Amino acid sequence: MTAVLSNEKIPNNVDLSSDKRLQRALEQWLPNYLDWWKQVGPEGYQEKDVYLRTAISVDTDGWAHFDYVKMPDYRWGIFLTPREEEKKIGFGDNYGQPVWNEVPGEFRNMLRRIIVTQGDTEPASVEQQRLLGATAPSLYDMRNLFQVNVEEGRHLWAMVYLLHSYFGKDGREEAEGLLERRSGDADKPRILGAFNQPIKNWVDFYFFTMFTDRDGKYQLYALSESGFDPLARTTKFMLTEEAHHMFVGETGIDRMVTRTAELMKSGPDVRKQGGIDIETLQKYLNLWFSLSEDLFGGEISSNAADFFAAGLKGRYKEDKYEDHKALDGNYRMAVIEDGKLLEKDVPLRTAMNEVLRDNYVEDCQRAVDKWNRTLERGGADPALRFRLPNRRFHRHQGIYAGHHFDLDGNMISAEEFERRKYEWLPSPDDIAYIESLMKPVHEPGKIAGWIAPPTRGINGQPFEFEYVRS
Ligand SMILES: [Fe+2]
Ligand SMILES: [Fe+2]
Repeated sequence: MTAVLSNEKIPNNVDLSSDKRLQRALEQWLPNYLDWWKQVGPEGYQEKDVYLRTAISVDTDGWAHFDYVKMPDYRWGIFLTPREEEKKIGFGDNYGQPVWNEVPGEFRNMLRRIIVTQGDTEPASVEQQRLLGATAPSLYDMRNLFQVNVEEGRHLWAMVYLLHSYFGKDGREEAEGLLERRSGDADKPRILGAFNQPIKNWVDFYFFTMFTDRDGKYQLYALSESGFDPLARTTKFMLTEEAHHMFVGETGIDRMVTRTAELMKSGPDVRKQGGIDIETLQKYLNLWFSLSEDLFGGEISSNAADFFAAGLKGRYKEDKYEDHKALDGNYRMAVIEDGKLLEKDVPLRTAMNEVLRDNYVEDCQRAVDKWNRTLERGGADPALRFRLPNRRFHRHQGIYAGHHFDLDGNMISAEEFERRKYEWLPSPDDIAYIESLMKPVHEPGKIAGWIAPPTRGINGQPFEFEYVRS
């Protein structure tokens, strides 16, 4: 493993300088990337010094280097975890064979599609979040937003590196395409639904980083098992950064819950006191949880089966499974036949998306339990607790799409859903109320009234620290 040459234009641990063709291609892509960043990256604050973490190597002491940086000067580098000797493919039809360090011809299209789909989510989320700086509830939160944004930019770099290195001309074209699509654009939208949804306010932002970045965690884990080793090593390192994004979401929600519980002590009408009531938070939870579940793809999927068979996309922590071929197992799930829900066994390989979604739902439930403990500690009425909706609720992908379900997963008519949807999802009034709260608090040590301060700051700094210098 070569050390990082941080004086290079593109910091990397992939020995970029020894591959002149690749280095030139990436150096040509760099100005296009910066143009994209300036056009649709964070609005404003580009000239400010932000206390950011930069990865300068993959070592424990190198991957989290903290300093003030102006965002356009952030060093978007290319980092892969070290190569393991004699590594073997861990699942699928090629189980036990040596991993690939070049793209196997027969899987080229599949692999490119996986990389482009993952890559597309990274710039999309930056675009979705671009206006939030102006209404940040504290400098600490503003800094976290920008940290997430620059790291999503780096994750785009990670995928573009793979496209440029391993896919020739069409890889370079795909890399351009990643800068051309736009979140929410009618003509050239981003590939996946949740990445075209607007993130209008900070409540959306915390729920997005909690639920949608967490989908990313499970996708990256599945890809970190890949038999195509450069993809496995790239995604493994991305996961170390991704953990912070989910932290921002999970603790952001917990801080809103803390504040709500505090306000409830002085009276049941939380909105009157400038806070966010539990019912509204629950609606945002229902919205972003269901949108994020869609990202796992269809419950029964021949693509998922093909990806698994090929050894390209595994399961979450594949090594904890005993049977890595998954050829004879079944998976029991509720399907819809003749307009009715029915339990049915489907071949395990075709259910790989659902298997991954199970891991995800379990992780989300853990966070919900934590927020409920916060409510309990805050003395909130035991009737007021959060819950995850049933996974059939409000789905737009997979076998439940096109049908309607309540929060418990009971099938209901389209009319009933239409009549009751604002019991479950943010209504125009709820959104207007949330947006009325979005007033910037940009003085060090101060915070908006609808959220509690964090229990600790970033990198051992206090909350009062000037995370973004004016
Ligand atoms: Fe990411
Ligand atoms: Fe992320």
